[in-house]
Amino acid sequence: MAQIKEDYKQLIGLANEARRHAYAPYSNYTVGAALRTKTGRLFTGVNIENSAYPDGTCAERVAVFKAVSEGERAFDAISVVTDNGGSPCGSCRQVLSEFGLDTVVLIADGNGKLLKTMTVGELLPEAFGPGNLKDRR
Ligand code: THU
Repeated sequence: MAQIKEDYKQLIGLANEARRHAYAPYSNYTVGAALRTKTGRLFTGVNIENSAYPDGTCAERVAVFKAVSEGERAFDAISVVTDNGGSPCGSCRQVLSEFGLDTVVLIADGNGKLLKTMTVGELLPEAFGPGNLKDRR
């Protein structure tokens, strides 16, 4: 238990550090994420906005896409850090759910305070997933 707490703290610290690289000149809302794979690898992500607003992307998805593009698909936990402890948007919940409903989501504020611990399945009940497309591939 103590080890898990320490691991969570590390994951939140990493996300908060990464947040410094967020590119959010339009919303001024910086987000950092840190994803730990089941193999123990760590991937960070930040939100990257764009002057063509819809082309920006969220921190969580950047972290997931970095991991998947490097061969990782099994995730343990992801931390998400914002100033005020905002929770992952619907699109990020969907993208996370593709790779497992049991991934733990740690939601923390800019002081590194853990506000909520949930699973992806709890954040996105009744998720549409790979199973829905079974036998259609
Ligand atoms: N944002 C994230 O990075 N993750 C979320 O889950 C919620 C929203 C970003 C998108 C945009 O750059 C800014 O926060 C304000 O919506």
